[in-house]
Amino acid sequence: MCGIVGYIGNKNCVPILINGLKRLEYRGYDSAGIGILTDDNAIIVKQKGKVSLLEEKIEELNLYSNIGIGHTRWATHGIPNEMNAHPHSNNDGTLFLIHNGIIENFHVLKKGLLKLGYQFKSETDSEVIVHLIDSFLKKGFDLTKSVQLALNEVEGTYGLAIVYSKEPDKIVVARKGSPLVVGIGDGENFVASDVSAILAYTKQVIYLEDGEVAILKKDSFSAKTIYDKEIEKEVHEITMSLDEIDRGGYAHFMLKEIMEQPETVRNSIRGRIIDEDGTSILGGLSDVVNELTDSKRILITACGTSWHAGLVGEYMFEQFCRIPTEVEYASEFRYRNPIIEKNDAIFFISQSGETADTLAAMREAKMKGALVLGICNVVGSSIARETNAGVYTHAGPEIGVASTKAFTSQLTVLALITLLIARRKNLSRVDGKTIADELKLIPEKIEKILKLNNEIEKIAEEFKDATNFLYLGRGYNFPVALEGALKMKEISYIHAEGYPAAEMKHGPIALIDENMPVVFIAPKDSTYEKIISNIQEVKARGGRIIAIANEDDNEIDKLVDYTIKVPQTIRMLMPILTVIPLQLLAYHIAVKKGLNVDQPRNLAKSVTVE
Ligand code: F6R
Repeated sequence: MCGIVGYIGNKNCVPILINGLKRLEYRGYDSAGIGILTDDNAIIVKQKGKVSLLEEKIEELNLYSNIGIGHTRWATHGIPNEMNAHPHSNNDGTLFLIHNGIIENFHVLKKGLLKLGYQFKSETDSEVIVHLIDSFLKKGFDLTKSVQLALNEVEGTYGLAIVYSKEPDKIVVARKGSPLVVGIGDGENFVASDVSAILAYTKQVIYLEDGEVAILKKDSFSAKTIYDKEIEKEVHEITMSLDEIDRGGYAHFMLKEIMEQPETVRNSIRGRIIDEDGTSILGGLSDVVNELTDSKRILITACGTSWHAGLVGEYMFEQFCRIPTEVEYASEFRYRNPIIEKNDAIFFISQSGETADTLAAMREAKMKGALVLGICNVVGSSIARETNAGVYTHAGPEIGVASTKAFTSQLTVLALITLLIARRKNLSRVDGKTIADELKLIPEKIEKILKLNNEIEKIAEEFKDATNFLYLGRGYNFPVALEGALKMKEISYIHAEGYPAAEMKHGPIALIDENMPVVFIAPKDSTYEKIISNIQEVKARGGRIIAIANEDDNEIDKLVDYTIKVPQTIRMLMPILTVIPLQLLAYHIAVKKGLNVDQPRNLAKSVTVE
C-alpha cells in the first residue's frame, strides 16, 4: 500500500510531486522520495518519515525538472529507512523506478541478478525490478521493451513508474494487482496510484488494467500489454470530490477497509504457500522455525481485536500443532510476573506494533529470556523491531479506528503459522494441502459475503434502536462473538457482550426478552446441533435473533428472525468469514445513528499510553 505519482510536461514537476505525495500519504507514510531528470542526469532525494520532512529537504536543494516520479512508502520488505525508500536506481544511476506492490519471486530474481554482478543497496523486493530492467537495457532493448521483458519474469503485484535518463522524453508505467491511473493533461501527463494525487491538475483519466504497460510523453499516451499487444484505452472523466476519492468512493474509511478484505487477505497469503508440500513459507520465522516447532507451550499476548485474533490462534495451534497455547491480555501479562519457561514461544499480535501494553509485555517476556515473536501490520514498528522474529500481516494502512481488515489478516497469518508448524509435526501433506487450498479460496468467499451489504444494511435498520446486543458462538466462533460485540460497542455505543453460547444458561439468559437482540454465529460444524439448542432457548424467551449461518442451511431460517448466509470453509478458517457480516452490521447501525464511524468517541487508533 504505497502511494505513487509521476509527471511529464512543461512545468516544474517538483511541487506537483510533493503535492501529490501529500494527498497519498494516507496510503503509507514511513518514508518518501522523488526522482527527477535534469539535463539527462538523474537526481534522487529520499527521506525517512513524513512527506513534510522530504519537502523540507527538497526546498534547500532548489530543484527544477519537467519529468519526475515520487513515492510514499508503506513498508513490506525492509524497515522504513532512507535506503529502502523509493525511487530505487540501477547501479550506474541512469534508471530509477517507484513500485507499489509485492514481488513474490524476488528472492529467486535477486539470486540471478547477484550472479550477474548487480549490487543491491536496499532490502526491498522492489529493487530487483530496476536491476532486472537494466539487464535487458544492457542487452540493447529500449526502455519499453526492457520493462515488458522484465515484467514477464516477475511474479506478484505492481504499480510501477520508471524513468531512464537515456530516454528522457518518457515515463513508462505498468500495472498488475496494484492500482494505477494515468492523468491526461494539455501538453502534460500524469500517473498516480490513485486519482486524488492528480485531480488538482486534470479530471481526464485512463485506468490501466493488469498486465498493461503505458508510455507517457508530454504530449502523447500509448499502451500495450506486457506481451507487446497494442491496446486502445478509454478516457474517463472524474466526477468525485477529493474527499470521496481518499475513501475510495466509500462514505467512511471503515467501510472501505471492510470492502478491501478480499485483497488484504490475498496480500497476507501472497507468496507464502508452498502448494506441492501443503505448507507455508514465512521468511520472518525462518531463523526460529525449529525452536518454534519444538516449543512446549505457546503464549499469545495482545489487546482488543488483536487479542481476539489470538484466541482464534489458540484454537488453531492446539488443534493442528498440538502445542498447549494460552492467550492473555498484554495489560495483565506485563504486571503479574508471568511464569515463562525455557521452551516457551510468545507471540505478540498488534496491528500498529506500538500498543503500549503489548510492547511492555513483549519487553518483559524478552527480559525473561523467552522467544518473542511479532505478528504486526506496521513494518518497522516498535514491536516488529524488538521481537526476535515475526510475520507481517500486509493489510496496508488501517485508518478507521475500529480494526477490521487487520483482524482478518491476523487470522490469515495465524493460519499460515499453524500450517508451518503443524506440517513439521503431525499434519499430513494431504491435510496441509486441504488447509492451503481452502485458505486460497477465502478471498473470493469474502467477496461473496460483501455482496450482502445491502441486505445487512436492512437488518441494521431493524436493530438500530436496540440498547443491548448479545453475541454467541462456540469453538472457533466464540472469539468472533467477542469481536462482533466489540465492533458494535466501539462504533455504535450500544452495549454488547460476547459469550461462548453454552455459557448463556449460566447467567446471560436472564437478560433475554423481546428487547434483547441475540446474534448467533452458527456455521455448520461439530457444535452446530448444540448451538441450535441455544437458539431455541432464546426463541422460547422471545429474544430477537440474527444468525450467521452457512449458505446451504435452510433449516435455521425457520428458527430465527434474520439469517446472513456465508459460504462454507474448514472450521479453522470460518472466523475470517463469519466476522465480516458482524463488521458490516456494526458499521451500518453506527451510520444510521449518525455517529462518527471512523473516529469513535474516546478512542485512538494506536493506544501508545497505558
Ligand atoms: C478495536 C481496536 C482495538 C485494537 C487494540 C490493539 O477495533 O482497534 O481494540 O485492536 O487497541 O491495537 P493493536 O492491534 O494496534 O495493538
